[in-house]
Amino acid sequence: MTDTIAGIQEDALDITALLGMGPMAPVSNTHAIYAALRKEQPVFEIPAGASVSATDHNKSFLITRYADVKRVLKEDATYSSDINQRTMGVVMGPTIIGMDGKEHLKHRTLITPSMTPRVLKGGNFESAVRATAHEIIDTFADRGSADLHHDFCFKYPLRVFVDLLGLPSDDLDQVHRWGIDLCLVAHDPEKGLIAADKLLNYLTPLVQAKRRTPGSDIISMLVDAEINGEKLSDYEVVSFLRLLVLAGAETTNHLLGTICYVLLHDPALMARVRADRALIPSLFQEAMRWESPIGTLMREATADTEIGNVAIPKGSGVLCHIGAANRDERQFREPDSFDIDRQDNEHIGFGYGPHYCAGSHLAKMEAEVAINALLDRLQDLEPDHAKPSRIIGFSFRGPDSLPVTFRSR
Ligand code: HEM
Repeated sequence: MTDTIAGIQEDALDITALLGMGPMAPVSNTHAIYAALRKEQPVFEIPAGASVSATDHNKSFLITRYADVKRVLKEDATYSSDINQRTMGVVMGPTIIGMDGKEHLKHRTLITPSMTPRVLKGGNFESAVRATAHEIIDTFADRGSADLHHDFCFKYPLRVFVDLLGLPSDDLDQVHRWGIDLCLVAHDPEKGLIAADKLLNYLTPLVQAKRRTPGSDIISMLVDAEINGEKLSDYEVVSFLRLLVLAGAETTNHLLGTICYVLLHDPALMARVRADRALIPSLFQEAMRWESPIGTLMREATADTEIGNVAIPKGSGVLCHIGAANRDERQFREPDSFDIDRQDNEHIGFGYGPHYCAGSHLAKMEAEVAINALLDRLQDLEPDHAKPSRIIGFSFRGPDSLPVTFRSR
């Protein structure tokens, strides 16, 4: 391969070069590196100064085997999430991804009831989401060509999110821009902090208004949630909403992109799914495994410990690569093949243990609605071979573009 991105030859990429490129590494061929790590250095000490290491630690380790990653995510007393509070918390404020133990459980209990598609909008949320998908397709259906990444996958989850929050749709672009800046805070802290502040100023009056006049949206449910007489403060609700911009919108964007990428590059699979929509849930789960939208999760060792006979000193950062774990040949047969008939697909694309994704049902519903809508509306859907796309990234992973041609219906 001769492709050169950011001055680095993709075929010359190794783990040190990859880590040096940071969380949003614009490269595609990462899986061969992870396979070599799983085989030879499953607990890899990240060189000091790499932009994905935890800055306030003497040591950071990257782990890539399924069993190791699962164990670390499960054992939250030994591998704390507090490090997320000290990194992402700087821009997000206090959120559940940076909490441990009882505090985490309390907040999770307050939050999760507001996040099931069944309760949102009095049970009408799915039809609202379907209407959103079709409205977005309307904007490009007549053209006969589009970039599904830019024209659909990027816009749709955020539109759903804005609807979930009951925000004016005119604010969508602005909210999305702030969301992206939040997302990239590790890369550009100044931009991230400005976006966090803007979102705080934007969302606080909305939260206060919902306290006075509740609706059937997620903000109203969050301000009303109560456990042992305690409610979330305005600041805690806003912090959670800022987390959702990142946790809910960017992830689903990448996942949908990967599903489209796979269908576009496998016409037989596309025909099969078109004819039998009951296959969409398996398509969703296999895409979650094959290119996990969130690549890495950070934890911190609370005591001297060990993983796979490698000593992990107390205070070390442990970067769990769920994307690499989901390709572990010890767990999955032919892990590099995309196989929607795969049995026992116990992927950990939504994480594992106490922090398992609180929005997985929403993500699944959103994706199923979107794929059905795209297949219903776009016939003879084909990739534009003149503009090839690639799946890229390290901490987040999805296609860089999806140029297509089609006949609309
Ligand atoms: C395909 C889409 C999605 C993917 C791949 C994904 C992935 C993940 C992962 C890996 C975690 C674990 C974080 C950790 O252990 O530190 C997580 C947590 C979380 N996700 Fe998702 N997510 C998706 C969609 C959503 C959606 C749509 C929402 C809500 C609207 C959401 C809300 C959350 C929340 C609130 C947490 C924190 C849970 C906790 O700390 O207890 N996610 N997600």
